[in-house]
Amino acid sequence: DLSPIDKAKFVAAKQATQYVQDGMKVGLGTGSTAAWLVKCLGEMVEKDGLKIKGVPTSTRTAELARDVGIEVISLDEAKWLDLTIDGADEFDGNLNLIKGGGGALLQEKIVATASDQMIVIADAAKNVETLGNFPLPIEVIPFGWQTTKTLVEETLIGMDVLGRKVSLRMNGEAPYYTDEGNHILDLHLNRIGNARQLSLILNQIPGVVENGLFIDICDIVIIGFGDGRVEVRD
Ligand code: A5P
Repeated sequence: DLSPIDKAKFVAAKQATQYVQDGMKVGLGTGSTAAWLVKCLGEMVEKDGLKIKGVPTSTRTAELARDVGIEVISLDEAKWLDLTIDGADEFDGNLNLIKGGGGALLQEKIVATASDQMIVIADAAKNVETLGNFPLPIEVIPFGWQTTKTLVEETLIGMDVLGRKVSLRMNGEAPYYTDEGNHILDLHLNRIGNARQLSLILNQIPGVVENGLFIDICDIVIIGFGDGRVEVRD
């Protein structure tokens, strides 16, 4: 028996499998909701003979996909994808997102951008009016990261945000490392007034590789509820 939150994630993931068809190249997201999707797709491969190729967005997802019997290929082998299905940390009414709570935002953004369609699967708690309550992750290269952090803090002074605290993501006592060998800065902004502008400006800072704002990338959000209901927004 699933807890309401797991049920919500599961039903959203299950609903998303309806968009997956034989022969598709599918981007596989990262996180607990995306993990449900990968398991559901694995079952369809095993039981129904579904034929897909999966492009994972993290080493974690690659491992899970292989475990459940999905054929895994790299993005370079796939070149272009029919569909990417991924979770999110927040989504708003325009289907813009904050992602990267799980640290995989860089691969996730590359893969989603290389797809005809991106579907987000999320429990209803991720639905927000304005993005920013969830700390915005940005991926920075380790070289000079403290200088990059200072530059980010200075940049935030001019931005339409409510909070400006920036913290280095840790893994116990040591800095967290992404799959690409980079660090993550979490930006505690509380409210992001202009997400499009913030995303563009952050990516101008040397040392910043990418940020977790997904603007105009997501096409459909499938929202799961604890009682098993789903709502599709597009
Ligand atoms: C991973 O880097 C994130 O972008 C995830 O998509 C996000 O954190 C959602 O994770 P959950 O499905 O576990 O909430």
